[in-house]
Formats: sequence, structure tokens, C-alpha cells
Amino acid sequence: MVRLPTVVIIGAGNLAYHLALNIHQSQVKLLQVYNRSRRGLSKIKKNTGVETSSSLNKLNRGADIYIIAVSDDAIRETASAITHLISKDAIIAHTSGSVSIDVLNNLRAELCYGAFYPLQSFKKERDIDLRKVPIFLSSHQPKTLKQLSVVAREISDKVVIIPDEERSKLHIPAVYVNNFVNHMYTIASDYCTKENLQIDHLYPLMKETLERIFDNNKPQDMQTGPAIRGDKATIRNHKKLLKDHPDQLPLYHYLTKAITRYYDENN
Ligand SMILES: NC(=O)c1ccc[n+]([C@@H]2O[C@H](COP(=O)([O-])OP(=O)(O)OC[C@H]3O[C@@H](n4cnc5c(N)ncnc54)[C@H](OP(=O)(O)O)[C@@H]3O)[C@@H](O)[C@H]2O)c1
Repeated sequence: MVRLPTVVIIGAGNLAYHLALNIHQSQVKLLQVYNRSRRGLSKIKKNTGVETSSSLNKLNRGADIYIIAVSDDAIRETASAITHLISKDAIIAHTSGSVSIDVLNNLRAELCYGAFYPLQSFKKERDIDLRKVPIFLSSHQPKTLKQLSVVAREISDKVVIIPDEERSKLHIPAVYVNNFVNHMYTIASDYCTKENLQIDHLYPLMKETLERIFDNNKPQDMQTGPAIRGDKATIRNHKKLLKDHPDQLPLYHYLTKAITRYYDENN
């Protein structure tokens, strides 16, 4: 029987929390969760019982794989701080969609490194079934990919090996469909609060917008509203009503123009 790799998670934020829970529940041995501060560690400890540490001196040095789930900008610095502590065969993988794996290059001679990117939006307060979340793996080293695949398959039903650059590109539509759409909901919610309107009146519309796509309709064929119809008086009226929301007016204007231009150019 093949020995499953052992894992240490670095970080205790939203993704680290879900990875810790899911890896802990799998056959893979999660040896430790390390974070630069105590923040987030007690919740992980409470829900997994796994050893946690915020002292680099106490970092478990014997793991096969170190998954670095810290903010994008801190990946290199964090990896750099642990590379001289861990075994020379150990793998370091970051979890970012957009950061190139090359950020881990040249930290040490012959370092095994890659990316371990679950494509989902994670918040600690939301349960996520990682089995349904695709995990994208990148590395220049076949041996590293093999080891990362073993761990990924233990927690997800969909594991995809993807070139580094393609993973970064995939992160852009991920930002569109989650981050930007969620910001639209935030704007709608703020607008409703300010105008004393009930956001839940919009729930059937929000549901239908998404269900159409899941029913295999192309989003570009599903557009409705004043911009695609060219209803200029309605648009003028909206802009007038938005005078009390000066922050929202430029966005409304930009997106209305973007929709008009898209259908002018594609019809
Ligand atoms: N959340 C998601 O939906 C999601 C999905 C896929 C991939 N990812 C990737 O996963 C990684 C973590 O994202 P997240 O959303 O889990 O972040 P997060 O919840 O904001 O947590 C950030 C983590 O990074 C640590 N950190 C921040 N700055 C640091 C520094 N200068 N040095 C060392 N550690 C530092 C924080 O430590 P403290 O607690 O001490 O501040 C915390 O453990 C990112 O690369 C992100 O692109 C996230």
C-alpha cells in the first residue's frame, strides 16, 4: 500500500480553516497548523484537535507537504521563512489562484514546489463540501504533482492538473462570477437599506439569474433590461434616482454602456 503524504498547513484564515477540517477528516495525516499569530488557531484546534502553533521554532519539520494558505502577498516571505527548517524532500505548495508558482522558485536548491488551488469562495462561517470543489494543481515537477494529487484526491472528487499560467487566467473569471457579483449584491443591499426597500423582494430574481446558467443557457443570450432594449428614458430616470447615491452612479453608467456596446458589437 502507498504511504499517504503527511501535511502541515501554514495559515489560519478562511481557506486554511476549511483545508484543515477536510484534510483532518480524510485519510491524510494533518500533523500541524501553523500561523504567524494565534488568531484562527483556537477554532481550528477546537474543530479538529490537531496540534497548532504560532512559534516558528515549534514548526513540525517532518511533514511531506507544507500547504501555505496565507495572503497572496505574504506567500514568498512565509515560504522563505520555512524552507531552511523543513526536510530537503518536502514539498511547499501555495493555495493562490493567481500567484505564479515561480514565487517559490530559488528559495533553496532543488526545492519541490507547486500550487494547490481549490476553486471556491471560502468563509469560516459557511460549511463547504470540498468533495464538490475542483482542486487545481500546478508544478514543474512530475513527482511534486503526484504527491499533491494524492492529497487532493483524498478531499475532492475533481482534481485537475493545470499549467501555472492557465491557473492564473482561470482566477479572472472566478473573480467575475464571485467577487464582482457579490459586490453587486452588496450595492443592491446598501441601496435597499438606504431607500427603505426589502432586499428579499429581489431573491426570486437573484435565483433565476443563476438557475438560467445552470440550465445550460449562455449568459449572453439571457440578458434583459433597459440597456439591451435601448430604453433611454428608463436609463435617464434611473440616473436621476441615483443622484442620491453618487457612489453608485459611475458604476451604473459604466455597466449600462458596457452592455450596450457588447450587444452593438455582437449583433
Ligand atoms: N478564501 C478563499 O475563498 C480562497 C479560495 C481559494 C484560494 N484562496 C487563497 O488562499 C490564501 C489565503 O486566503 P484566505 O482567504 O484564507 O485569507 P485570510 O482569511 O485573509 O487569511 C490570511 C492568512 O494569511 C496570514 N497572513 C497575512 N499576512 C501575512 C504575513 N505578512 N505573513 C504571514 N502570514 C500572513 C494571516 O495570518 P493572521 O491570522 O496572523 O493575520 C492568515 O492566516 C490566498 O493565497 C488566497 O488567494 C482563498
